[in-house]
Amino acid sequence: MSSYVIPPVNLTGRGCVKSIGREAAKFQARRALVVASFGAVGEAQAALVASILKDSGVETVLFCRVMPNPTVAVVDEGLALYRSSGCDLLVAVGGGSAMDAAKGIGLLASNGGRIADYEGEDKAGKALPPFIAIATTAGTGSEVTQFAVISDEEHNKLTLVDRYLAPNVSVNDPEMMASMPPALTAATGMDALTHAVEAYVSRNAGPVTDAQAWKAIQLVAKNLPLAVRDGTDMNARENMCCASFLAGAAFNNAGLGLVHAMSHPLGGHCNLPHGLCNALLLPVVCRFNTTLETLGRFSDIAVALGVGRSWRAERDNAEVGLEALFSLNRSLGLPKGLRELGVRKEDLPLLAERTMEEAIGRPNPRKYDKRDVLRLYEEAY
Ligand SMILES: [Fe+2]
Repeated sequence: MSSYVIPPVNLTGRGCVKSIGREAAKFQARRALVVASFGAVGEAQAALVASILKDSGVETVLFCRVMPNPTVAVVDEGLALYRSSGCDLLVAVGGGSAMDAAKGIGLLASNGGRIADYEGEDKAGKALPPFIAIATTAGTGSEVTQFAVISDEEHNKLTLVDRYLAPNVSVNDPEMMASMPPALTAATGMDALTHAVEAYVSRNAGPVTDAQAWKAIQLVAKNLPLAVRDGTDMNARENMCCASFLAGAAFNNAGLGLVHAMSHPLGGHCNLPHGLCNALLLPVVCRFNTTLETLGRFSDIAVALGVGRSWRAERDNAEVGLEALFSLNRSLGLPKGLRELGVRKEDLPLLAERTMEEAIGRPNPRKYDKRDVLRLYEEAY
């Protein structure tokens, strides 16, 4: 048996953010807490959301306080505001951090207690308040997933997996992403590609997630270079929205793998963007994961990337697919390796140790040990 979890309503396409007022009205909401990132960009995004909700008669209270890697402290602060303002709807607008903070606020608003009580799988007994999640980057997929990562006071990342964390409505509007600079577009787009590739080769993959992951890979390969070159190319942006949504839905159910297990400690320890870490690790981990059992899967991926051919031997396809992943990074102008990101070589053994503790790597198609992981960090260096 397999279960399949995504939000019940998922909006994609140009201008779809304007429909959130109608969605809020369906919950009979009167006052929404709008959760956004700290700073001018987050404030502008929250103000736009507030004006749309106002037109539908929904009052708003803005909470633009979320920094990257949201903490239990910001969740508690947001929760206090949610309660004291009498809110009955949560709206997150932003990347993964704003979504994760909103998930934490909603979880405690309904269930009480502390975030640490819910670490692990399916610990919540009650559904969150109505929750609309609006993505402003095409990559994290957090607007469709049942995962949240919140850091505690000791900077430990608490991972929460609960079907109640999946928002009621996800929104992927390319017009919300038009102002993303090229480097952010590239990094978040490579995060989406990594979600799709890891879901496609996951031990937990199935026909439903395969269909989503494969199409997401094809959409990223065709559209990410265009969106990076010209951020006003709304057709490319719209296709990246679909790719991000599909990849999020796929990994929400099939899980991830070794790329994410390595990129989490790397990003946390060296304070590096998640998507960039994934981009540099993806090709070397895919090479490691290519075995007799997975050749067919990597051959399919090569076809989705536009370089594999159905008449060609699987081994040859898998090889050109790997080359395409390396050259995609180069064509997007991403750094060549971890050294360029300022990672210290002497930190790699510690990162390899932490990778082994990451449960997110469990669905990886090939087993690995600490030596394998260290070698892969060195290859990506
Ligand atoms: Fe990711």
